[in-house]
Amino acid sequence: MLKTINNFDLKNKRVLIRVDFNVPLVDGQVTDDFRIRMALPTITHCLDSGASVVIMSHLGRPKGEVNPDLSLIPVGEKLAELIELPIKFSDDCVSEDARDVSMGLRPGEIHLLENLRFYNEETANEPQFSELLAKHGEVFINDAFGTAHRPHASNVGVTKYFLHKGIGFLFEKELQYLSTVIKKPHRPMTLVLGGAKIDTKLELINKFIDEADSIIIGGGMAFTFLKVKGIDVGGSLVDESMLSVASEIIENARKKSKRIHFPVDVVAAKNIDDGKNSLEYKINEIPTDMSGFDIGSATIERFSKILLASKTIIWNGPIGVFEKSDFNNGTLKIAEIMTEAKEEGCSVIVGGGDTAAAVKSYKLIDKMSHVSTGGGASLELLSGVRLPSVEALEG
Ligand code: 3PG
Ligand code: MG
Repeated sequence: MLKTINNFDLKNKRVLIRVDFNVPLVDGQVTDDFRIRMALPTITHCLDSGASVVIMSHLGRPKGEVNPDLSLIPVGEKLAELIELPIKFSDDCVSEDARDVSMGLRPGEIHLLENLRFYNEETANEPQFSELLAKHGEVFINDAFGTAHRPHASNVGVTKYFLHKGIGFLFEKELQYLSTVIKKPHRPMTLVLGGAKIDTKLELINKFIDEADSIIIGGGMAFTFLKVKGIDVGGSLVDESMLSVASEIIENARKKSKRIHFPVDVVAAKNIDDGKNSLEYKINEIPTDMSGFDIGSATIERFSKILLASKTIIWNGPIGVFEKSDFNNGTLKIAEIMTEAKEEGCSVIVGGGDTAAAVKSYKLIDKMSHVSTGGGASLELLSGVRLPSVEALEG
């Protein structure tokens, strides 16, 4: 049975919390604190319950080397600012000094450990390293949903050394939206896919051909499908290696009488940096020297109708190259329509790092039912894959 943080009496306990503070840093500053803010409810609940907390995370992929650019110090500063409490920091996650700090914590105190991935033992899920990590706490809480698909020491190996272990509030909310809601969705349920790559979303597409009522495909990946359907997409990006896979998907959907909706027009330009000279074209009229980088107005209208009729929407992948202001409109409009759908009672679930970044940039996070803190983890969960970190806690 998977336990949650509410199952434990935390008074005077030392709680070891695995969080995912793998956040973007620029010049030593946290540029996006979403993952940190989303972990606060679990941390404050522990402190309010009379516990002390030891927090551990990875940051980036230092591959077992100490790399000062990937230190968690700036993350700790951001956490201290958000939680308005001082934070003790150890520059090593398994040293004796670090353990002594944890042992000496008083209720209400916070101890942050340095980047777990400064040790290869972390990603190797090495037992001795896991045991050393476990010495930091008496109760283990995993709230690192973004890392839930990785079988590592700090979220899998470590669980073996705890009697009292479970998930935090963030992890619980992620499971609720990305798994429970989708098992018994209010219908119609619509899956919206975008982004450039098909291969990372294959399992998801195949699952939702069975389960969704409608599938909308935008973003760069749409052109590969459109080419399979015999449309000349001009210079737009087509993933030649995925043509046969795309054709199987279309055939599979046809057999099951599921309609996949593709763009009917695009905003195209000579290249991605020539947005100033972009024009709208019908999908079968894109000139050979032009490439589509966003959906056009007729597509926005069509997709909007489907979205406004939906009772559950799952969205993964930007609809256009939203990082470029000239190709941002499609993703923005689709996001806005989703907030309208939500106001009318639709559950809107957003997954994937880029999609979350887009929604964040529009300041619409709070207007969705749920924006996942996980990229790969949310994709795997939505695809029905069992997460190793959940299995470890159930075992
Ligand atoms: C993420 O940002 O995807 C998670 O923190 C996992 O990181 P990883 O892809 O380096 O394992
Ligand atoms: Mg990743």
